[in-house]
Amino acid sequence: MKAYQILAGTGIAGLKRVERPERSPDAHEVKVRIDATSLNHRDLSFAKGQFYNPPSYPIIPLVDGCGEIIAVGNAVTRFKIGDRVITSYYPRWVDGALSSSKTAISFGAQFDGTLAGEVVASEEFFTAAPISLTPTQASTLSCAGVTAWNALFVAGALKPGSSVLILGTGGVSLWALQLAKAAGLFAIVTSSSDEKLQRVKALGADGTINYRTTPDWQDEVLRLTAGAGVDLVVEVGGEDTLARSLKAAGVGATVVVIGRVSGGGGVSIEPGMLIGGAKRLVGVTAGSRAMLEDLVRFVDVNRIVPTIDKVFPFDEAVAAYEYLQSGAHFGKIVIDAR
Ligand SMILES: NC(=O)c1ccc[n+]([C@@H]2O[C@H](COP(=O)([O-])OP(=O)(O)OC[C@H]3O[C@@H](n4cnc5c(N)ncnc54)[C@H](OP(=O)(O)O)[C@@H]3O)[C@@H](O)[C@H]2O)c1
Repeated sequence: MKAYQILAGTGIAGLKRVERPERSPDAHEVKVRIDATSLNHRDLSFAKGQFYNPPSYPIIPLVDGCGEIIAVGNAVTRFKIGDRVITSYYPRWVDGALSSSKTAISFGAQFDGTLAGEVVASEEFFTAAPISLTPTQASTLSCAGVTAWNALFVAGALKPGSSVLILGTGGVSLWALQLAKAAGLFAIVTSSSDEKLQRVKALGADGTINYRTTPDWQDEVLRLTAGAGVDLVVEVGGEDTLARSLKAAGVGATVVVIGRVSGGGGVSIEPGMLIGGAKRLVGVTAGSRAMLEDLVRFVDVNRIVPTIDKVFPFDEAVAAYEYLQSGAHFGKIVIDAR
């Protein structure tokens, strides 16, 4: 079976094309022919050795994936041959409250992922793919999509008409924008690029701010919301952005801490910034399978087509990683595994 493997911490240069032995599914397992897989910032972090709890041996990377079931074990009940499925980020987190055991493992981090011709795993590790999307499009839900869903509608519990500030135009952020607009939210997006801001306007953004040319962008968020601040911030920036995000958040607002693309160092926050406005600072980590199922239904009902910047052939996985690292992308980067 064709695959790539990587040892955590060896960088993009450590990504190697290999042949892995094929195997048949056990009783509760399914065998999925992977049609498409997409990259996430965490895959770069894993390559650089910045991801938690990596194995000490090379594994097949990537968590996102969509494919068709080509074999089932004799005790499988949820799927049949021919079904199209996507991976669930935390396969042990089916539903309910988070626990450390539910989030202990994820595809392409603690065990083999989706940058391969096939994946054999428990039927519980997959969800039915949206019927309205191609495999390429459906390969973007498992990480970025479900994280944006969790931030807006689970951790954030937003209602139609609420306002949201979305930082940057990467995978999570554009998913958040598309979900926000389908749900009737007021969305402000920041980017380093005016050209990318034009593109987010076409996706429905109500306000746009270039965070390079407007370094005090939190003031512009207040202006765009008539001084009120937003109800929720999709905080993917980390070190350089978190304190500003808190200032851009209104009374009773939630800052959902998701990522650290600007750096993961310490941030100075005055307690009064949270107390005075009764603001909430909440971390999220991907989402449960139940959240992914809710997202799939929402995508189908609202005919949401995820924003894909570029599709790379399987043979060019290294180039796909390098493109992600460049930061030039707008939305998702997909690898065609067929
Ligand atoms: N907690 C979770 O469960 C979870 C899940 C998914 C991702 N994450 C994390 O969330 C972050 C984003 O992930 P991703 O996969 O969406 O990444 P990505 O596709 O690589 O997106 C990166 C984008 O961030 C923007 N950016 C960079 N520096 C910025 C800054 N100083 N201020 C505002 N925006 C900035 C850039 O947008 P412009 O080019 O428009 O400037 C860039 O395109 C990463 O840190 C990732 O590890 C966490």
